[in-house]
Amino acid sequence: MPQQDSKTAKRKFLPYGRQTVTTHDIASVKEVLESDWLTQGPMIDRFEADLAEKVGSKYSVACSNGTAALHLAMLSLGVGRGDTVVTTPNTFLADANCARYVGANVAFADIDANTGNISSEALANLLAKDHDKRIKVVIPVHFAGQPCDIADISYLARKHGAFVVEDACHAIGASYEHEGSVITVGSCYHSDLTVFSFHPVKHVAMGEGGAITTNSYHLNEKLRLFRSHGMNKLDCELADMAISPEGIPNPWYYEMRYLGYNYRLSDIQAGLGVSQLSRLDESIAKRNQLANVYDTLISKAFPDGTVKPLKREAGRLNAYHLYVIAIDFEGCGISRAVVMNSLRDAGIGSQVHYVPVPLQPYYRKHTRAKEGDFPEAESYYATALSIPMYPALEPQDCEYVIATLKNILR
Ligand SMILES: Cc1ncc(COP(=O)(O)O)c(C=O)c1O
Repeated sequence: MPQQDSKTAKRKFLPYGRQTVTTHDIASVKEVLESDWLTQGPMIDRFEADLAEKVGSKYSVACSNGTAALHLAMLSLGVGRGDTVVTTPNTFLADANCARYVGANVAFADIDANTGNISSEALANLLAKDHDKRIKVVIPVHFAGQPCDIADISYLARKHGAFVVEDACHAIGASYEHEGSVITVGSCYHSDLTVFSFHPVKHVAMGEGGAITTNSYHLNEKLRLFRSHGMNKLDCELADMAISPEGIPNPWYYEMRYLGYNYRLSDIQAGLGVSQLSRLDESIAKRNQLANVYDTLISKAFPDGTVKPLKREAGRLNAYHLYVIAIDFEGCGISRAVVMNSLRDAGIGSQVHYVPVPLQPYYRKHTRAKEGDFPEAESYYATALSIPMYPALEPQDCEYVIATLKNILR
């Protein structure tokens, strides 16, 4: 075997997140490719059944991505012009955009900078000012994988007459204690709908993919219609077109009652999803193990608190989609750009989750937001950095990341 020269040996690049694809995943996709169905076939049904079982919901509707899932959620709840949708500033654009797709306005409730999650106090303040009850939906996000205060948020929203759509794109596999029981994120115990994304950096990777879970028969039916052009074959409205003179259903006939979209997932993606989902518990356990390693390394390397992990809330199982740290860049006299570039030069990927959505040019115009309006989200943003977190990472990789960071900040 050739000897590796330690000076020339190149470290494998550690991205901030990445998928794991096993031979089992490949076999599952191959099974679909060799079957009669590439889309709208039995693998979709299987994925939906597996997901509903995993999270403990009655129904699950697979779709093309998490953004489509959010749009479908708005459509199924009948959100439109004149309505307001509240979400968190510390999230991906899609949580606000889905409201704009259906003509609704967006408002943001500030976060708790220690966790990155939406603050129920900030939400309560927004709701209290909404005298004419424009707020129709609240979309809390389980940021980075840690469940937010969903029981409080749900109580506040429902008291106001608003729907709750949980964004669990970071949090499949997470759970939280509530009144002595463990509630799985996605079971919709505290919400009307929960949305998921299956983008490659997420726990369940399908290339692209999304899903919505619900316990409502009617929402499930609507989501399915909107997912596929608003097209229906059963229960048709125009009986004279749907039924033959002999009184039997016309086999070709379909009917469109709603303006829907093509937000379908393919069986190829579902094949990957079924296999990936079967490893979810393993992935969550490994991510938690790595988070513990990082927590210990950080407290040893930075006893003065220059670098801190996000606060862990008691009684919550964090899915650790991301491992976010807060760095006192100002105190260290170094910019985040320099730190990120230095990490990259050392073979370590990092990212910032997220630029506060209301400060995006589009939302500054839409909501008249300006710097200073979301002090918690802005102070969080000033220090946040996501460092590598994915199941294939090893504890010695975490050691390398923290040692490198310490060198850079020194
Ligand atoms: C919190 C959150 N919501 C929604 C989305 C949108 O999901 P997708 O990329 O699958 O459209 C993402 C994706 O990154 C996300 O992180």
